[in-house]
Amino acid sequence: MVDQPWWQSTTIYQVYPRSYADSNGDGIGDLAGIIDKLDHIAEVGFGTVWVSPFFSSPQEDFGYDVSDYCDVAPEYGTLADAEQLVEQAHARGLKVVFDLVLNHTSDQHPWFQESRRSRTNDKADWYIWRDGRGKGGRRKPNNWRSALEVRSAWQWSEERRQWFLASFLPCQPDLNWWNTDVRQAMFDVARFWLERGVDGFRLDMFGAIMKDPQFRNNPIKPTSGGSELFRIWRRDFTDNTDANIDLAHELREVCEEYRDPERVLIGEVFGRHEVLRRYLGEGDGLQLVFLFDFLMFRYSAEFFRRKISAYEALFPPPFQPTYVIENHDRTRSIDRLGGDLRKARVLAVMLLTLRGVPTVYMGQEIGMSNTYIPLRDAQDPIARHYFSWVPEFVSKRLPERINRDEVRTPMQWDGSSNAGFCPGGVEPWLPVNANAATRNVAVEGGDPASLLCLYRDLLRLRSECAPLHSGRLRLLDGLADGVLGYERNYEERTAVVLLNFSDDERRVRSRTSEMLLASDPVAHLRDHEVLLPPHSGVVLA
Ligand code: NOJ
Repeated sequence: MVDQPWWQSTTIYQVYPRSYADSNGDGIGDLAGIIDKLDHIAEVGFGTVWVSPFFSSPQEDFGYDVSDYCDVAPEYGTLADAEQLVEQAHARGLKVVFDLVLNHTSDQHPWFQESRRSRTNDKADWYIWRDGRGKGGRRKPNNWRSALEVRSAWQWSEERRQWFLASFLPCQPDLNWWNTDVRQAMFDVARFWLERGVDGFRLDMFGAIMKDPQFRNNPIKPTSGGSELFRIWRRDFTDNTDANIDLAHELREVCEEYRDPERVLIGEVFGRHEVLRRYLGEGDGLQLVFLFDFLMFRYSAEFFRRKISAYEALFPPPFQPTYVIENHDRTRSIDRLGGDLRKARVLAVMLLTLRGVPTVYMGQEIGMSNTYIPLRDAQDPIARHYFSWVPEFVSKRLPERINRDEVRTPMQWDGSSNAGFCPGGVEPWLPVNANAATRNVAVEGGDPASLLCLYRDLLRLRSECAPLHSGRLRLLDGLADGVLGYERNYEERTAVVLLNFSDDERRVRSRTSEMLLASDPVAHLRDHEVLLPPHSGVVLA
């Protein structure tokens, strides 16, 4: 047994509750549905389930707009279901991480309803209110932009004749974390779930919580190309402030009240790697921060080599890089690969053998693809409110999905009419992908050559092989063009990973003597030479 905190060697599986499994036939996934599918998650071999928000919410942003942090939205179930989810996951040896939205609430939250009523009520200072500039105060207090960049973060309230800050959508007002009552109330929310046994939290928009108390304008900075026409705002006074780094430590202290097992904090933070690293402190801040570079990967050995070596330099053991190739906001990776399953297999081998914590978005394990949904049919508020004017032919060609519905379609369980997500005859909240008849858990589970079985094999190997789950990583030099290779070392044991990103066969000399896994059956090891077919990966020892 390797002696290290559980989260250092775990693997994370993200479930988007609305789209995972519908247990009561209303076309919307729910907590009981997730409980039914925990066996799938455990059998594939993941260690931790991260569940996107299911708390009370008007669902303007599908749960990232919370109106009661300590209750469950009726379409997802009850508090008892949430408790069952934790218990049932634990019974299968899985850890559970919930999604905590600390930066903002829904505008329907009773706190905001009260806060917006007057400038003098008990909650008047719980959100970020500001007088405007100019005549009647109708000019925005400063130049802070929403996270979507396209508009100001300030929203006018006629009731208070003041502006409130909403760093994401207008229906998601930012809490004022400089107010100690707010801080305590939100820490109590964390405690509420920690007491119910959750093993930690994914922290939504964590980098944006503590804004500059002086409300200084963010500097306007020309793009690196120096163009005066296209300017972007830096976010010096809204994101990753020193006070925000301090908050990471405070939240960690709250978690430390609940040891055994240690609870984990995983930050959704954006910025330069050096900035992200600050959140981890000396091991006394957040334990993990998502590294999002892989979301927009270029499929090449050089791209991944560059990223891995940067992560190794900045997040050396005991810190752990946290890799994300897909999530509920961004394009499915198989679409970035032109649908080529061989390439998806190479990425799977890499993701599950790197040093660090891999995150896999539901459906990634079966190669689910985007489901094209025109902007006019979007349910996603970003697509509906901001980008509905984008011509469809442009939207279709963008590398990134404006309409996040496309990556949130129902999980494909089997070949039945609604892919096993909900009963036939019921209309699921989003359409099922047309490829569900063949690309689904049931079909792939019975096919040893499938992507799902590769994930299963990789996760099994990872859990059995100490170098893979706990070893150090050393990039290999001097490999053939298009080949990425690294060694994982734990005590006297070594595993070697070779990945051929090229269109041609490659041969690599290796001191290893055993092939532990290959993404392509043609790959082989003979007389210390590894044959790698195009777009293949192997693990050797
Ligand atoms: C990031 C989440 O991933 C996204 O889905 C959500 O819309 C925003 N934060 C706002 O909470």
